[in-house]
Amino acid sequence: MKFQSVRGTHDILPAEAAQFHQVESAARNVFERFGFEEIRTPTFESLSLFHRSLGETTDVVEKEMYAFEDRGGRKLALRPEGTAGVVRAFVEHHLDQIRPFCKLFYIGPMYRAERPQAGRYREFWQIGAESFGNASPAADAETLLLVQTLFDSLKIKDFQLKINSLGDEKCRPLYRRALTEFLEKEKSNLCEDCRRRMVINPLRVLDCKIDGPRLGGLPTVDAYWCDECRSHFDSTRNLFEKAGGRFVFVPKLVRGLDYYSRTVFEVTADISGAQDALAAGGRYDGLVKDIGGPNMPALGFALGMERTVEAWKASQGESAPGRHRLVFIAAQAPEVIAEAFQLLEELRLDQVLRDASIDIEGGFFEKKLGAQLSIADRLGASHCVIVGQDEIRSNEVTLRSLKTSSQERIPRARLISRLIE
Ligand code: HAM
Repeated sequence: MKFQSVRGTHDILPAEAAQFHQVESAARNVFERFGFEEIRTPTFESLSLFHRSLGETTDVVEKEMYAFEDRGGRKLALRPEGTAGVVRAFVEHHLDQIRPFCKLFYIGPMYRAERPQAGRYREFWQIGAESFGNASPAADAETLLLVQTLFDSLKIKDFQLKINSLGDEKCRPLYRRALTEFLEKEKSNLCEDCRRRMVINPLRVLDCKIDGPRLGGLPTVDAYWCDECRSHFDSTRNLFEKAGGRFVFVPKLVRGLDYYSRTVFEVTADISGAQDALAAGGRYDGLVKDIGGPNMPALGFALGMERTVEAWKASQGESAPGRHRLVFIAAQAPEVIAEAFQLLEELRLDQVLRDASIDIEGGFFEKKLGAQLSIADRLGASHCVIVGQDEIRSNEVTLRSLKTSSQERIPRARLISRLIE
């Protein structure tokens, strides 16, 4: 019997894990500068939390949830995204009472039973951030700037930040009505999905791959914004632009989750053959209250790690980060295994070597010296340090270059500085 990873999941092998790590550390760096602190919430929550926060009629809730009953008959679901859980934790632990505002980030796996394809998985990783307690357009501009800074710091080429405002509970219903009236007239031209969407969630028609681009003359939300929403969006744009923001206004931009109000945005990049949405987010001023918390404005975003790593790799080209160098420790005879082992562990923990990105490997001391050298070679080591009885007597080691096969005896005390040379 042969096992394989489950459809839609994937193993992150060491080479890719290192790339994930690069993206994560760039993100942690930017979060720190913008004053965000890390939060870790469970990978599963009550099913009703997601129904309540993401919207009953969204694709994620209707078709993509990994919902299950546990042994106690509780209805649970693997989290399809991070916002709902973070908001739940924010409310549960009364984080609003600790500070006037609160900025949190998270890194973790999410689960959606979507049809897998390049860049679309059933288990995927997100890096996200949520900030609570600031209703000002400055908070929207700051989140946009954070997102831009993050993708800039990864040197992702040609990403595009698209922004829009979905209005609020006052003006969005007017837009919804106008859109529904328009769609009624076009009903016979709509795809089957959109005929259903038209009734339950008409804004999603704008997002439809078939009907979205095809329908001419669709009303757009900007014509229906109330004065407050218009002024909020104008200020957001102005502040962002003044701080060096680069964006395009896309009045047809909508999101697949229902909790958004006012500002929404999406980051796209051209990754060949894969999904192009790298990140998305926006303001969700009603959500905290909706799930039983105080009336508290909030906003955030999340990026998809797999897609961001793809875009990052494509943008790296020749400037890929330098590889670590490797030095291998070998023993010449069974009598010196203890000394060789001691040297291996000493060098491995040495801070000077670590700072110089020199990795240490070894530990195959029972094998013949030739076999140890061949392992070193296959690992791509540049040098081998050979510990022998003679060397021990004179407090020396032999340093062998695996490229040139030349070797020299050097005092043990000079080994580290010689390796760095
Ligand atoms: P979202 O647009 O559903 O928003 O997802 C954000 C990002 O997660 C997407 O742009 C994409 O890069 C990645 N992603 C989504 N689904 C998949 C998948 N099946 N496979 C691979 N990557 C995927 C949210 O999740 C919101 N919680 C964002 C947010 C935070 N809004 C406010 N705060």
